[in-house]
Amino acid sequence: MFNRTVARSTVRALNSARTAFIAPAVGSIRPLSFTAVRSKEEDPNKDPILSATDRAEKGASGDHEGEFARTDDSVQIPYPPDSQYPAQPVVQGRGGMHFKRTLAQFSLEGKVSIVTGGARGLGLVMGQGLIASGSDLAIVDLNKTEAEDSAYKLIEQFRKENPGLEQMPNVTAHYADVANPDSVNTALAEVLAQHSKIDNLVTSAGFTENFDAISYPFERMKKLWGVNVDGTYLFATGVAKHLMERNAPGNIVMIGSMSGAIVNVPQPQAPYNAAKAAVRHLAASLAVEWAGKDIRVNCISPGYMLTALTRKILDENPELRDKWTSLIPVGKMGTPEDLMGAVTFLLSDAAKYITGAELRVDGGYTVT
Ligand SMILES: NC(=O)c1ccc[n+]([C@@H]2O[C@H](COP(=O)([O-])OP(=O)(O)OC[C@H]3O[C@@H](n4cnc5c(N)ncnc54)[C@H](O)[C@@H]3O)[C@@H](O)[C@H]2O)c1
Repeated sequence: MFNRTVARSTVRALNSARTAFIAPAVGSIRPLSFTAVRSKEEDPNKDPILSATDRAEKGASGDHEGEFARTDDSVQIPYPPDSQYPAQPVVQGRGGMHFKRTLAQFSLEGKVSIVTGGARGLGLVMGQGLIASGSDLAIVDLNKTEAEDSAYKLIEQFRKENPGLEQMPNVTAHYADVANPDSVNTALAEVLAQHSKIDNLVTSAGFTENFDAISYPFERMKKLWGVNVDGTYLFATGVAKHLMERNAPGNIVMIGSMSGAIVNVPQPQAPYNAAKAAVRHLAASLAVEWAGKDIRVNCISPGYMLTALTRKILDENPELRDKWTSLIPVGKMGTPEDLMGAVTFLLSDAAKYITGAELRVDGGYTVT
């Protein structure tokens, strides 16, 4: 009875819609296209607008066709071996006790944070931001010597900027290949043995390199996916398991990249872009899965940041620097220090209701 009534009214509605569609006078019907009508003899190459459409021969509107929106296969930048890796300094003069009023919610006092890939680059400086905000720190990296050296430098810098402070943060260094499950488990056990608990995780271990898709060596591609995607997944699940066993709240920040949302030019890097899109959606997916366990998961997507490595790449390829900065609305690359506040915020109680979010720190790159 109900179904028949619904069916009858649906037929009635369809009929009246059909009538309404037929009803307008011919003169009031809008044309389907506003494209100017051209005569057959018209030469598209002479019209500057038409020559830029797909009707013209390729190159008809000059060298600029697609110029700023294409990748260039000649750009090849492999990730360097450790022996060629430039040193990353810690940030000077930002970590001291201060007397400016600020929300207590931003503090990470009493927390233990892991930063993977924390021996160098963005991870090192984000780790510095976390200890300046009150957290203890476990640096996890493939390069243990560099991680130990960085842990030492962080403590020295902290001591210099906090003269007379008796309680130093506990900063430790640990080896892990984040792409290897056994190695991740061993590192987590080691961190727990030295810190007793883990509250926060930042997954910064990751790398990019540039080859056009056809010539990308497959083994290198697998490694890139392994570190950027599997490594993020393995550390996140390992830390979440620990938090659930402790029945404790916790926070995870995954370092993605603006490349997870846009395609960089001119350097080709399809696997990296796809890997970072995976990281962003992994953060959102795990945020939902663990929301009921009080574990927040967010993603920071940096734009072009001036680390020791990107500085070296740009010194060797000055034309890239001009292309990159010309596409950033604020007109300059970011510094690792620009991530200190973003990561502290997302790990802190100031972001208590934020989970599954992506915070882009890219000078406006992705909004143009
Ligand atoms: N620098 C940028 O402009 C930029 C921009 C957007 C996103 N990112 C992302 O930020 C993160 C950090 O980048 P970065 O510029 O600081 O790079 P980086 O090369 O300076 O530092 C990466 C660190 O990760 C470590 N690492 C590499 N593979 C590892 C593995 N398998 N296991 C454990 N550690 C490993 C390295 O030893 C190194 O210490 C990466 O995920 C990167 O994709 C960087």
